[in-house]
Amino acid sequence: MVEYNPFDHRIVEDVYDVYRRLRNQAPVYYNSEIDFYALSRFDDVMSAHLDPVTFSSAHGVTIEGIDAGQPFLIVKDPPEHTWHRKIVSRVFTPRRIGGLEAFIRETAVTLLDEHVGSEGFDAVSQFSFRLPLDVIGALIDIPAELREEVHEKSDVLNARDGTSVAPDAAVQASAALVGLFATLVAERRKRPGDDVISMLMASEVQDDEGRTRMLDDQELAFRFLELAFAGHETVAKLIANGIVALAWYPDARRELAADPGLIPGAVEEMLRWDPPSQYQGRWTTRPVELHGTTIPQDKRVVLLTGSATHDERRFENPEMFDIHRKIERHVSFGFGIHLCLGAALARLELRVAFEEFLKRFPEYDIAPSGVVRQYGGNVRGLQNLPIVGLRAAASA
Ligand code: HEM
Repeated sequence: MVEYNPFDHRIVEDVYDVYRRLRNQAPVYYNSEIDFYALSRFDDVMSAHLDPVTFSSAHGVTIEGIDAGQPFLIVKDPPEHTWHRKIVSRVFTPRRIGGLEAFIRETAVTLLDEHVGSEGFDAVSQFSFRLPLDVIGALIDIPAELREEVHEKSDVLNARDGTSVAPDAAVQASAALVGLFATLVAERRKRPGDDVISMLMASEVQDDEGRTRMLDDQELAFRFLELAFAGHETVAKLIANGIVALAWYPDARRELAADPGLIPGAVEEMLRWDPPSQYQGRWTTRPVELHGTTIPQDKRVVLLTGSATHDERRFENPEMFDIHRKIERHVSFGFGIHLCLGAALARLELRVAFEEFLKRFPEYDIAPSGVVRQYGGNVRGLQNLPIVGLRAAASA
């Protein structure tokens, strides 16, 4: 009988095989020890995303509930979610995002040029998290000297110790980040700039009671924190997961290096093949009958993104990484009302990251002994990814 516990390190190591068995044997899986249900087929995950009334986000989107009751956008339901999202979308415009390309490229070039001519480097600590951290740092103006701390605390906040209970360190890191961003909000009130947070501060919106109002300090601190956290952890993980994919599929890597026009398609395949955000938690507001099982009301249900994007009912030969795959839609950025607000920015960063990376390093290997996986809740990715063999490639 298939067992799924996302905190069990052995399961995380081989999670796509577990997902396959869930889809085939237990599409409505129940973990009685931790007390949650899991939906693993693409169509079921998609339907749940499109029904936020039945599948509420308001009890948190994690299993361990570290985010429950906190005023994050992602854990709000309509009507509150609608106007909170509206005000962020208003300052997070496609024009503003598109205008960042030159800055993203310049940042990527600086980070990568340092390693040209070297034997190798750590693709996580020296590239994959630094790029998105500097990009979101500039966009929302996190002072440069605080960025490392924001990243370290975000990592601690993510880390889990093999159990379904968030460790004290994670709870403390979360509180410390809230404090850090509350201080920044107070400073920003005194000295507003042209960053996204200053714009949010100056924006008026109609709340769900029809009152015109502005965000208060606490709401701003949480917008700040969620953009800082979501804005770099996920992109960092996907860059590294993509570097691994291209090491395993060298022909695809060489094709992309020769024809960078294929990179946007490859990025979608990276998002499908090893998505950084592996599940989205929900809470049932009524009993749900599915595949002969009834999920009672008031139960935690996780929508298994990582399984949905490997569903053979939707994607042919899903375990294969195929940069030419025609992907009509995936759920790696979620779907429906909570669809990732940073998707356009993430896609831009990922395209530029791989354009610049492959331009310099079309050939590389991974030093397997140095690869360290990060064990988190729903975030899947690496802590370290040593890439080697660069010099050999340059002289080849
Ligand atoms: C590869 C990169 C990324 C991935 C895979 C990703 C994934 C996701 C997913 C799956 C959701 C939906 C959560 C749910 O339905 O419960 C989401 C929401 C969100 N993401 Fe992202 N994300 C990425 C990058 C970013 C970036 C760069 C930002 C900000 C700059 C961002 C900000 C947000 C926010 C604010 C939400 C909440 C939206 C809402 O609740 O309405 N994300 N993201």
